[in-house]
Amino acid sequence: TSYINNPLHHVRSPVPQGRRHTLPASEFRSLSPEDAISVFEIEREAFISVSGECPLHLDEVRHFLTLCPELSLGWFEEGRLVAFIIGSLWDQERLTMDALTLHKPHGATVHIHVLAVHRTFRQQGKGSILMWRYLQYLRCLPYVRRAVLMCEDFLVPFYQKSGFKALGPAEITVGPLNFIEMFYPVRGHSFMRRNSGC
Ligand SMILES: CC(C)(COP(=O)(O)OP(=O)(O)OC[C@H]1O[C@@H](n2cnc3c(N)ncnc32)[C@H](O)[C@@H]1OP(=O)(O)O)[C@@H](O)C(=O)NCCC(=O)NCCS
Repeated sequence: TSYINNPLHHVRSPVPQGRRHTLPASEFRSLSPEDAISVFEIEREAFISVSGECPLHLDEVRHFLTLCPELSLGWFEEGRLVAFIIGSLWDQERLTMDALTLHKPHGATVHIHVLAVHRTFRQQGKGSILMWRYLQYLRCLPYVRRAVLMCEDFLVPFYQKSGFKALGPAEITVGPLNFIEMFYPVRGHSFMRRNSGC
């Protein structure tokens, strides 16, 4: 009877068997210059094979991951990079060509240079989840007021779903490519700030 009447019996989980095989290790962390090759491999497939261009060349990846690793975020599964964001600081309202290569340590705007997801992990919500975690994290950095990025037309709805608003055509062009500039107000939602859990 004690077995039947024990209220804990009903909530206790079975002993996990083979747990280490069923739980994939997901890890989120800032990137370092040692991650540059993995970043560039994803960029090569995602961008270079498509348009011949990419947001950051290998030396630029290393440059930003050396200067401001705290503005990057990587998603690793079983130690392997599957998605990442690289950002740096910018100090003007709108992006100019200089923003592609410079980090302005006193700026209050995070320029998101690139978000990319490894090909085999796309369309699973990972891009949206990583962006959500990144924006949450930015709220905890007191010097950050807003985030900006530029993207091609067809990705505007994707970033709108993450809370970005279009500012209009970007001044920057890369070869034949044109971009829409978008921003996200990191500071300004008093409710979210109070409940940010920083
Ligand atoms: C864009 C990217 C970061 C999205 O990450 P993801 O994990 O695949 O995205 P999610 O699963 O969170 O969301 C899927 C949504 O992204 C959008 N999206 C993704 N790829 C898209 C594309 N090629 N065209 C239009 N919308 C796209 C859609 O809104 C899609 O939602 P839907 O399937 O309901 O239409 C990822 O696909 C990627 O790295 N792509 C390669 C790089 C790239 O294309 N960059 C843009 C070129 S400038």
